[in-house]
Amino acid sequence: MTRRLLIMLLLCLPMGALAEDRVLRLYAPEALVETGVLDYLLPRFSLKTQVKVERVSDAEAADMVLGGDGRALFEGAGQVWRMTLATDDPDAARFADWLTGDVGRRTVLSYAPDGEPLFTEAKVEKAEAVEVSFDGDAVLGHAVSRDKCRRCHAVDEASRMGTIGSTPSFGILRSLPDWDQRFAAFYLLNPHPAFMIIAGVTEPFDEARPPPIVPIEMSLDELDAMLAYVSAMQAKDLGAPIQHQ
Ligand code: HEC
Repeated sequence: MTRRLLIMLLLCLPMGALAEDRVLRLYAPEALVETGVLDYLLPRFSLKTQVKVERVSDAEAADMVLGGDGRALFEGAGQVWRMTLATDDPDAARFADWLTGDVGRRTVLSYAPDGEPLFTEAKVEKAEAVEVSFDGDAVLGHAVSRDKCRRCHAVDEASRMGTIGSTPSFGILRSLPDWDQRFAAFYLLNPHPAFMIIAGVTEPFDEARPPPIVPIEMSLDELDAMLAYVSAMQAKDLGAPIQHQ
C-alpha cells in the first residue's frame, strides 16, 4: 500500500526534478557542423558529464561559440577552429576543459569519418600571429593607421576628434605591457575579425555573417609599417615626464 503510494508520488514528479537539468547552448558554424565531428563529440561528452548540449543557430544566444575567434582547439576542414565562452555558464566551462584536456583532444583527433583523421592539433597560438617586426616604414605606418583605423580609434593628437569615444586610443593601447601582441594580432581580436581582410592571412568571411561595415583591407607590409609606427610612439610617452621637469 505505502509502496504503491510512493511510486505514484514519484510518477507525479516532473522528470527535470529527478535528473539535474543541465543544458549548454553551443553555436558552431555550418562548415564545422558539416564535418559531423559534433555528432561524434557531443554524445561522448554528454554521456560522461550528464550535460546536455543544445545547438543554437544564433551565436548571440550561445554559452559557447566555436568558430574563428578565441582559443585555438584543432585544425581541419580548411581552418583552425577556436572557441570562445560567451557566458560564465559552468557547463560551458566544463566543456571547454574537456575539449582542451586529454580526453576531448584525443576524441577530436580520433574522428575519422572516411578512415582518415579529419583534424589535427592546432599549432601553437603564437605561430598564427604574424611574425612581429618593428623595422617597417613608420611613416607609411602612420598614414596606414590614419587611413584604416582612425574611423574608430584616435591614432594621434590630430585624429582625436571624430573617433568613437568608447574605443581605446592607440596611445592607451600602446601603454599596455603587451601592446605588441595586441597590435600584431589585432585582426584576430574582436571586433576586427568581422571586417578586416589581410591578404594571405585572414580567412574569408563566414557567408552567414557578412561584415557589419565595408571590409578594411591591409597588406602584410602595411601591418609591419603600422607596428613600426606604434612601436615608435613609445619615445613620445617616455619623453613626456622629462619635458615637465
Ligand atoms: C569599426 C571600428 C574599428 C576599426 C576600423 C578598428 N578598430 Fe581596433 N578596436 C575597435 C574596438 C571597438 C576595440 C575595443 C575592443 C574591446 O574593447 O574589446 C578595438 C581594439 C583594438 C585593439 C586592442 C585589442 C585587444 O583586444 O587588446 C587593437 C590593437 C586595435 N583595435 C587595433 C586596430 C588597428 C591597427 C586598426 C586599423 C587597421 C583598427 N584597430 C581598426 C574597433 C575598431
